[in-house]
Amino acid sequence: MTGTAETIDLYDRAIDRLVRFHPDVMTLAGELTADDSPAPMASALAAYLNLTSTDSDDLAAARASWETLSQTDRNEREQAHAAAIGAWLSGDWSGAASLLDALLLQFPTDVLALMIGHQLDFFLGDAQNLRDRPLRSLRELPPDDPHAAFVRGMAAFGLEESGHYGQALDTGLAAVTANADDVWAIHAVVHTFEMQGLVDEGIRFLASDATRWETGNMFTAHNWWHLALYQLEAGDPQRSLDIYDTEIHNADSAGVPIEMLDASALLWRLFLDGVDTGDRFPLLAQAWAPKLAGESWYSFNDLHGVIAFAGADRRDDVHDVIETRQRWLEGGHEANATNVRMTAEIGLPACRAVLAFIEDRHHDVIQLLMPIRRNFHHFGGSHAQRDALQRTLLESALRSGRYELARALVSERLGLRESSVYGWSQRARAVRGLGDDAAAAAAEQRATAVRARFAP
Ligand SMILES: [Fe+2]
Repeated sequence: MTGTAETIDLYDRAIDRLVRFHPDVMTLAGELTADDSPAPMASALAAYLNLTSTDSDDLAAARASWETLSQTDRNEREQAHAAAIGAWLSGDWSGAASLLDALLLQFPTDVLALMIGHQLDFFLGDAQNLRDRPLRSLRELPPDDPHAAFVRGMAAFGLEESGHYGQALDTGLAAVTANADDVWAIHAVVHTFEMQGLVDEGIRFLASDATRWETGNMFTAHNWWHLALYQLEAGDPQRSLDIYDTEIHNADSAGVPIEMLDASALLWRLFLDGVDTGDRFPLLAQAWAPKLAGESWYSFNDLHGVIAFAGADRRDDVHDVIETRQRWLEGGHEANATNVRMTAEIGLPACRAVLAFIEDRHHDVIQLLMPIRRNFHHFGGSHAQRDALQRTLLESALRSGRYELARALVSERLGLRESSVYGWSQRARAVRGLGDDAAAAAAEQRATAVRARFAP
């Protein structure tokens, strides 16, 4: 990279903080960009940090860093970063991800390109590249490279999202053994347990001394969210609400989209289950409101804002978001190609389904979600995050008396997650609706037995 020995040393320290999601990376990026002509990679890092928030409020800062970068003498690699950042800023998230892949062909050990590309694959819901991008680089990193294990943690998450649970678990645990504060690898292991309904193992893993994730990193709230999901799966909504209040969203929360997504997704699950969430939805909707006021930047965020509005019964605001996004699509756009595609294919139908749900139009929910349920990943996020939509579909099937459909949807879930109070309870409702009281009683028994396993 271009820069003095002092700058390169500072940059290396920033990357070391970044792979741990440690907030010191923000301070170090500030130091790196403090003088009038920062090193190109310093500007690139600052731009990426603002882009990965997925918050349109951070776009101006990202653009300013990119302009500085574009006006600086750059080498070939730094030029490639400038091109990727430019694509992302124009709303071509897929193009940015591809440009970083091209950069990594030539410079496979560029940990910043890899980590940002990995985040882009996540925002795009590209499970295969979440797996393959880190695997390509891992082989090129010397085993004694201090960041090789973090790349292994990234590979673990991709292996999980693409369904290789055995390899994901081994790879993730190896990464955590190397660095107990590798919160991304911890998260990969947590997802692996989540996808298989291994709630006991997940709770035990998060509580173990082998992991350090509970405080002081930029991924804290999300891993607490996963613990709250385990508690829901174990049939204990009150513990989920306690986690929500202390760790996910409260009056002191910073109001950043990445954390508010989790807040919406958790409250919506509780709402679907008929749990009283008190005044949490109105408070969360207040926090989301300014983020939804402008033009759409990331459809995945729009949906979660709409969920908060819906839960707070702010129907006018739900309608408003849907109508502005619809008009925005009809306007035709050169820019924002990725979000236009995401909004049209998944985001807008999903927002309409949420509105239909709170208006008790459950047939409409089914009509909106059934055709796209295999493609929810096209607007990003993880399987666990998108499960809020799968549950919405199932709940509407039950509430509208579509019991055969509900039974089929539950059977898919139980086939992958036997230890699910939620799954067995929903099966009981479905088969009771079909008139099979004996099967309903058996399913309820299974739900009771699983709940008892997790009783404190
Ligand atoms: Fe996650």
